[in-house]
Amino acid sequence: MTTCGPHVDHNLKRKRKRPLTIVLALETSCDETAVALVNSRAPYGQQVLASQVASQVASHAPYGGVVPELAARRHVELLPHLVDQAFGEAGIGWDEVSAVAATATPGLVGALLVGLTTGKTMALLHGKPFLAVHHLEGHLCSAQLTGGPPPEPPFLVLLVSGGHTQLVRVDGPGVYQLCGATVDDAAGEAFDKVARLLGLGYPGGPAIEAAAGGGDPQRFAFPQGRVSRTGGGYEPYAFSFSGLKTAVLRCIEGLQRQGEPLPVADLAASFESIVATVLSSRSVRCALDQGLSRLVVVGGVAANHRLRQALEQRCREEGLTLVMAPLAFCGDNAAMIGVAAGQRLASGCQSPWTIGVSPRLPLHEAGSLYGPHPPF
Ligand code: KG4
Ligand code: ZN
Repeated sequence: MTTCGPHVDHNLKRKRKRPLTIVLALETSCDETAVALVNSRAPYGQQVLASQVASQVASHAPYGGVVPELAARRHVELLPHLVDQAFGEAGIGWDEVSAVAATATPGLVGALLVGLTTGKTMALLHGKPFLAVHHLEGHLCSAQLTGGPPPEPPFLVLLVSGGHTQLVRVDGPGVYQLCGATVDDAAGEAFDKVARLLGLGYPGGPAIEAAAGGGDPQRFAFPQGRVSRTGGGYEPYAFSFSGLKTAVLRCIEGLQRQGEPLPVADLAASFESIVATVLSSRSVRCALDQGLSRLVVVGGVAANHRLRQALEQRCREEGLTLVMAPLAFCGDNAAMIGVAAGQRLASGCQSPWTIGVSPRLPLHEAGSLYGPHPPF
């Protein structure tokens, strides 16, 4: 069962006479401005009525990374048009919308505030309930957009994005247990930093993937980033990517000292290969140790083909069922936020109007976004 706080809104109870199904969802936590209309009661494969994503990559590329103030300003400019476009794409009007949702945490505070304030204002104007959504719960829900039946809990999720690398056990909607995480950089962050070292630009993940195409993944043996355990041995489900980034840097410096042209394709392929090996082997080991037979993979880095192949191979070898978010919904999008909100709405949740935003909130506390005393 989806958990939410004891907050009861009597308006929501009255409105329940109408079916609560279509959610207008906004996502503005980082550098994608996204709006979606999602019907949570539609059959699998038909839930997404509209999904608009406006990438801000061109605005941030000259700076080599996301500039928070610029991201917030672009969200302000883009959001109203995307809302109009989403309604146009879905061919529906406000009277068919059951609720409005927006990402409230984690993310860039200024960027989050734009989506949350826009969402709350539209909800108030149109007399709809409002749901603040945890961005990572949204990513988890992207695995429900494959067109097939959603993965049945319990399962293990590998969540790999620009800000997070986590292994999360899911025992039901909203019931999460963190099994492992990175102790330093997130996997996506490592892709972005290594791409910069290789002069490949931003965002790094797709740039490395493209550059690695014809490269030799065996040419450079980069470290697996094991995390020592107090008392000896290694943490089996922990990740560390900062040492890997430094190893790539030292390798580049060595090659440059020898006056050799940089073998960018081989460096990119070798880096990508070790990341895919580490992520797939530790996830599979964790799933097996937890007694779980299903592995779900979500987040921006889940779009990486070498990682997807490594996961397919390891899961086949170990007899695990693998569900990966569709490529279109790996990166930040609002459809996943709409699915998460629809799930909470179905359990009678809504957020208090006083709710704000926060740069961080642990995933297992996502239910607090629907209690009478919001965490921020
Ligand atoms: O989930 P996401 O869109 O945003 C966050 O919530 O962080 O993930 C963005 C991250 C970036 O670091 C980007 O470089 C990485 O996902 N990424 C990729 C690929 N596409 C995006 N990493 C590896 N291979 C890709 N094809
Ligand atoms: Zn994300």
